[in-house]
Amino acid sequence: MENEYAIETQDLVKIYKTGKVKAVDGLNLRIKKGEIYALIGANGSGKTTSLNMICGALFPTSGTIKLLGYDIPKHRRIISNYIGIAPQDYSIYYDLSLEENVRFFSRLYGMSKTEFEPRYNEIMQMLRLEEKRKTQAKNLSGGMKRRASIACALIHSPKVVFFDEATVGVDPVLRTFFWEYFRSLKEKGVTIVITSHVMDEAEKADRIGLMRAGKMIAEGTPEKLKTKYKSTTIEEIFIKLSEGEIADE
Ligand SMILES: Nc1ncnc2c1ncn2[C@@H]1O[C@H](COP(=O)(O)OP(=O)(O)OP(=O)(O)O)[C@@H](O)[C@H]1O
Ligand SMILES: [Mg+2]
Repeated sequence: MENEYAIETQDLVKIYKTGKVKAVDGLNLRIKKGEIYALIGANGSGKTTSLNMICGALFPTSGTIKLLGYDIPKHRRIISNYIGIAPQDYSIYYDLSLEENVRFFSRLYGMSKTEFEPRYNEIMQMLRLEEKRKTQAKNLSGGMKRRASIACALIHSPKVVFFDEATVGVDPVLRTFFWEYFRSLKEKGVTIVITSHVMDEAEKADRIGLMRAGKMIAEGTPEKLKTKYKSTTIEEIFIKLSEGEIADE
């Protein structure tokens, strides 16, 4: 039977060489194919570290990771064309134009020119970047640089995408477009993992995981979490839980 999970981690731990504490401390994640999952938590709670290990960019100290059924980091190369990453720090090259950047990524993923053009046009339209195609990346506004990173992460039609704070600085109108697009990707079976500090954005996800000090302390659909923690918003839950007032059982 085909595995229904896009991502599975078991007892995932990361201790950085220079760090004394566990940046990630026994993370067990199960994210289904076609799910939109939001990882939230205070600064330094371990979200980026977790994503980096899952996509194979960072070695775990211990624990196991399966991404689309493949062991990570061992089989990282096999699945590299199936995943897209918009990192927290921009992934774009400042001296290249927007178009050159996206084209560069498409080549990394082995796309042909004929595959590139229609896909590129679709993404530029979705991100409202059509008029900036020839602009050098360093001359894009902050929010546009974010969108450029998103374009680079999506160009090759990945099956799993990681957006680490990808929508920081992106205006609310565009964010609405993004979410429409995310839903259309979801319909096609694409799995989307986002981290965000924008709580009404996290609320749009199918499921939310809240991390504190490297551990998952609450997880569920936005509705389930609100009922469980007797809160009207995810922001309220975030504030209650991430400062350590209440722990999940
Ligand atoms: N390269 C590194 N070397 C040493 N420690 C690190 C490194 N990267 C992160 N850390 C530490 O690991 C912990 C988790 O950091 P991480 O970047 O995963 O948090 P985060 O949840 O993504 O935070 P933010 O919301 O600020 O992006 C922090 O204590 C951080 O200082
Ligand atoms: Mg981070």
